[in-house]
Amino acid sequence: MATAVSPTQKTEDIQQNKMTSIKDLAESGGLASVPSEYTFASNPNDQADQNDPDHSMPTIDFSLLMSTSPDQRAEILHDLRKACEEWGFFMVTNHGIPESLMKNMIEVCQGFFNLPEEEKKVYQTRNLLDPIKCGTSFNVEIDKVLLWRDFLKVISHPLFHSLAKPEGYSEVSLEFSKRIREVATELLRAISETLELEADYIEKSMNWDQGLQILAANYYPACPDPEKAIGIPPHTDHGLVTILIQNDMGGLQVQHKGKWVNWNAIPNSLVVNLGDQMQILTNDKYKSVWHRAVVNNKAPRISIAVPHGPSLETVVVPAPELVEKQGRPPAYKGISYHDFLDLQQSAKCYMKPCLDEIRL
Ligand code: OGA
Ligand code: NI
Repeated sequence: MATAVSPTQKTEDIQQNKMTSIKDLAESGGLASVPSEYTFASNPNDQADQNDPDHSMPTIDFSLLMSTSPDQRAEILHDLRKACEEWGFFMVTNHGIPESLMKNMIEVCQGFFNLPEEEKKVYQTRNLLDPIKCGTSFNVEIDKVLLWRDFLKVISHPLFHSLAKPEGYSEVSLEFSKRIREVATELLRAISETLELEADYIEKSMNWDQGLQILAANYYPACPDPEKAIGIPPHTDHGLVTILIQNDMGGLQVQHKGKWVNWNAIPNSLVVNLGDQMQILTNDKYKSVWHRAVVNNKAPRISIAVPHGPSLETVVVPAPELVEKQGRPPAYKGISYHDFLDLQQSAKCYMKPCLDEIRL
């Protein structure tokens, strides 16, 4: 029989990188409050606005993006440009990805998080670019406060990687990653057009055929005192576009016009946001938006964020065609996506805007 481990011992273990799971800690029973290592002091002025009527989130009907009618296409590109300029976050509906596939993907990820610690431990590594990686918090070596989430990150492109367990993970994640990447490809074509560039401009300049795609599953256990903990603190995503799905527990908040807004996703829609490489490429025209994940005291939340980036070797610079049109100098020095990822993981960028490090 296993010996009982006290909650204090468990948080010490997490900090010393001996174990992986807040799920285990939160769901083992007997945790009446948030342990001090997880206490995240958020500023009361930073609370999300619940009912701001101005905040109607943009929705892009994907089927219209595929339309062969020039008028319809022009109209949806107009909406997409506005969504990219004003929000950097939007919902995508009618995307053609079966509801059952989205549900199955969430289920197999739940299956992974349910595996016994010993089986998950083999994937506990430090390097961001290890093909399969699981853990807790963000980077337990530099985290000052531990995050109320466990994660599983699997690289699915340019090479598809997978897990033998749980059963079904391989098949489901292969199909899911392909379908999501198809949507991402179409979105990048449309985004190129909203920038008045050739439709394949981003694909070509970012070496998209070798582009990075990561299936990043987040597990946020129910939390006894949600105000005191945080799932993921404010951050921007590193890639070009991230596509996210989630179970029916909300928790995503987005910064919009200086305020935090609860993202009330339409069921079965995809949540899309622009990342840092898009901000570099567009020379600040399209911003990488700050967002965070809060936790709740009712039920576990699972989200699957799928960041898509250039190939790792691509040196991303502001697009010369845009710089010329804008009539202002490039705002960033060129950096390979690989180096950018290393920078983002470093202590230098802990809870800070990483883009500032490469701003000219
Ligand atoms: C992320 C992220 C938000 C969420 O994984 O980068 O922002 O709602 N997740 O889980
Ligand atoms: Ni994110």
